[in-house]
Amino acid sequence: MAFTRKPWAEPYKIKVVEPLKMTTREHREVKIKESGYNTFLLRSEDVYIDLLTDSGTNAMSDYQWAGMMLGDEAYAGSKNFYFLEENVQKYYNYKYVVPTHQGRGAEHLISQALIKKGDYVPGNMYFTTTRQHQELAGGTFVDVIIDEAHNPSVELPFKGNVDLNKFQALIDKVGAEKIPYITVGATVNMAGGQPVSMANIKDVHDLAHKYNIRVILDATRVTENAYFIQQREEGYKDKSIEAILREFCSYTDGATVSGKKDVYTNIGGFVAINDPDVFDELRNMVVVYEGLHTYGGLAGRDMEAMARGIEEMVKQENIEFRVKQVQYLGDLLIEAGIPIVQPVGGHAVFLDARKFYEHLPQTQYPAQALAADLYIESGVRSMERGIVSAGRNKETGEENKPRLELVRLTIPRRVYTQSHLDVVAYSVIELYKHREKATGLKMVYEPAYLRFFQARFERL
Ligand code: F0G
Repeated sequence: MAFTRKPWAEPYKIKVVEPLKMTTREHREVKIKESGYNTFLLRSEDVYIDLLTDSGTNAMSDYQWAGMMLGDEAYAGSKNFYFLEENVQKYYNYKYVVPTHQGRGAEHLISQALIKKGDYVPGNMYFTTTRQHQELAGGTFVDVIIDEAHNPSVELPFKGNVDLNKFQALIDKVGAEKIPYITVGATVNMAGGQPVSMANIKDVHDLAHKYNIRVILDATRVTENAYFIQQREEGYKDKSIEAILREFCSYTDGATVSGKKDVYTNIGGFVAINDPDVFDELRNMVVVYEGLHTYGGLAGRDMEAMARGIEEMVKQENIEFRVKQVQYLGDLLIEAGIPIVQPVGGHAVFLDARKFYEHLPQTQYPAQALAADLYIESGVRSMERGIVSAGRNKETGEENKPRLELVRLTIPRRVYTQSHLDVVAYSVIELYKHREKATGLKMVYEPAYLRFFQARFERL
């Protein structure tokens, strides 16, 4: 074989394997119907390649597993907590740390600590659990991401940026005293894993601080963001991921983190903050909702795995492989003419279900149908990120109708090889060939909160 490019490979070798189960199409047809055409309701043993999420599905390293044996399971003052605290301070550059069971635990605490009823919380596109906690605390989320983020085919290096005019317009409209903070997600999950530039976070910081508004970073995938800055932003190509990360976080006042992504763990999260008074409030609240402030709902071993994962996430070879592996799948699909969100983001390839199933109106849940069909076709599990995920307007009860109607093929870290991704690409391409046969869905069960997790559907 003649190489068309210099080959590259996983920056690790495999020590433990987990067998995969292949199933028949007939089996999968039964299983997805039983699951109400919702991939969240499938049993994982009925899935072949699982691209539902990159959350908590990572393979830990031998260094992390060895750390698990050093779990200090004391109720109070576990040494693993102090190591985690030290690494958060060192790598993310915040002063105070409160561990939580996962990201949404951190979102709950920060929302309750900072939002009053009637407040507004701007953000660069919503994330499901983040917005839910803001609303439960009495706030109203306002999207201030740049317009281009809502268009799957506009190619921009930093498609996750905050639109400063939108942010300023909100301040002018409701008054700065009604805006406790702005949430900046980096990268932006719902926009396709799109990054925020260093210049933009700096501008957001300056504008927010002019009005005494805090900047709270959703740092769940901020290492992927740092890699994009290194690759795409003027002046950063010779800077380390570590340095970029510290600088990026320095323009924010605190962060919520789901450790289940960048940090390569299966569970865990934390909230970090620089203001001692807010820290005091978070530390008081964590005892009520999660656990003592030195474990926050986690075992000592989980905190150790997070602390060690933080050291691994900033290593150039790890983050570079991570992002390039996602790009590899994206390139295979782009070459085959499959409509996907471009540019390809940091954690997933997003199929554009509006274009893929052009004949299905959004009210028939095209992305939900596409995720179900891909599972039937191949046993590959993906996730809807469209109208079902967007939920309902909290005032009017109407369904939110997002412009992006997507199916997410999310790549767990260090779990699948390039051959698995070849199989995924092949399956999507096969499905695309007979896309006109697809039928829509109707929702027959709708939960009150975060409906996408448990909603059920039937074929139209
Ligand atoms: N913020 C972002 C950007 C996320 O992607 C997630 C989780 C959270 C916060 C919440 O963290 O799950 O630990 O409570 N995203 C997962 C996903 C569920 O599949 O994208 P969590």
